[in-house]
Amino acid sequence: MAAVGSTVKFLRVLFEVEREIVRCLTTYIYRVGDIELKYLLCQHVWESAGHARFLRERGNELGGFGKNEAAREEIRRIFEESIRVDEEIEGLAAFYRVIKGELLISYRKYLDTTHSLADWPSRKLVEEFIQDEERHQAEIQPYTGLMENTDWVQRLQLALDAQGGWLGALPKAKLPNDFNWRWPDLPYRHPDTCNRGDFPTCSSVFGYDPGEFPICRDWLEDPKTDARVIRLMVYVWLMMELDAVDYLSTVFYETPEAPFDLHYDLARHLWDESRHSAFGYRQLPKLGVDLMTLEHSVSLYNILVQMTPPERYAMMTREFEAGSFGTKAYIMDRVRELSDFEADTLLAFDRNDEQQHVRYGHRWLPVIMDLFGIDEPVDTFVEATQKRFQELEKNYGELTPHSLTKEERFTANELLKLAGIE
Ligand SMILES: [Fe+2]
Ligand SMILES: [Fe+2]
Repeated sequence: MAAVGSTVKFLRVLFEVEREIVRCLTTYIYRVGDIELKYLLCQHVWESAGHARFLRERGNELGGFGKNEAAREEIRRIFEESIRVDEEIEGLAAFYRVIKGELLISYRKYLDTTHSLADWPSRKLVEEFIQDEERHQAEIQPYTGLMENTDWVQRLQLALDAQGGWLGALPKAKLPNDFNWRWPDLPYRHPDTCNRGDFPTCSSVFGYDPGEFPICRDWLEDPKTDARVIRLMVYVWLMMELDAVDYLSTVFYETPEAPFDLHYDLARHLWDESRHSAFGYRQLPKLGVDLMTLEHSVSLYNILVQMTPPERYAMMTREFEAGSFGTKAYIMDRVRELSDFEADTLLAFDRNDEQQHVRYGHRWLPVIMDLFGIDEPVDTFVEATQKRFQELEKNYGELTPHSLTKEERFTANELLKLAGIE
């Protein structure tokens, strides 16, 4: 039976582990190429953020939880080590088996030592978290199964065993003499481009030539365009929000001292974008699109990863998202002509989410600027960032050539045929 004091200490450790999961599991999202895996990771990150938030709330009820929300060095170094892996699936296997596996063990231990009547409120939470963690293990299995017990997995396990697991309660195994931590000497760097696995890629899917691009900007706003064409184009647009998934994922790792609520809202934002992308990814094949002919646009990631986190976040919320409402509202009106209730619903939810993202931007951009020591009015910063983006676009905006020829790839001309318009 654990006294209140040690219960709070447990809750605090569990909170730090969950928030470090949010900060570091996100670094795998742009490194893995499987689209379904990206979506799954976004969902798990969001659930971890939820766990952390409830743990913090319960900890604060009990007192002595602490005002500072950053993770302690002993916990953070395991996470720092865990992301410095050469092969992303092997890294992910270790992350789930060691980091999240030990977390599951810690939650079970917490239940064992907590009095069922005295601390019923946190027991109920932890019972639910255990179910989530068990499901996460099952859901990741199809992607990491073959990498279960590699050297890297064992190595990470040794590092965590040496500190007695997350709660420090297990016997502390000695680290082998030849164990070399990677993280103190190897700075972590986001890759210059994001991974899209077997899918063809290009710089952008937006343009004006229907023989070149799947989305023609002028068609979207032309009242003469058939609504079936608009629907296909907006699904392509939504699917390409996968770029937002990849570049937003880069912000967590670089803001280790952020208030947890900032990461919580970013995790929600990230999960929303993954669902928006899935709207397109799931609907397009139903409308006859062969996804292997649809190139993924990656230039926004390529450009934004050259910028600082506050610049990335400013472009995302103040420029791309805030600037999309007019066109999207018009698109919603046009799609309504089709009496396609599912499409109407997906677009309406997308719009609601986006409004929320712009609100997040207003709340958190000044905070991220502050974390990077930027002391100027937000609007001045946003304007300078827009200019810098345009400069960087010249060098990084066209780096990714088309994987497919014009004949092979899905363009607006192909889209017309699918929509039944010749
Ligand atoms: Fe979105
Ligand atoms: Fe958004």
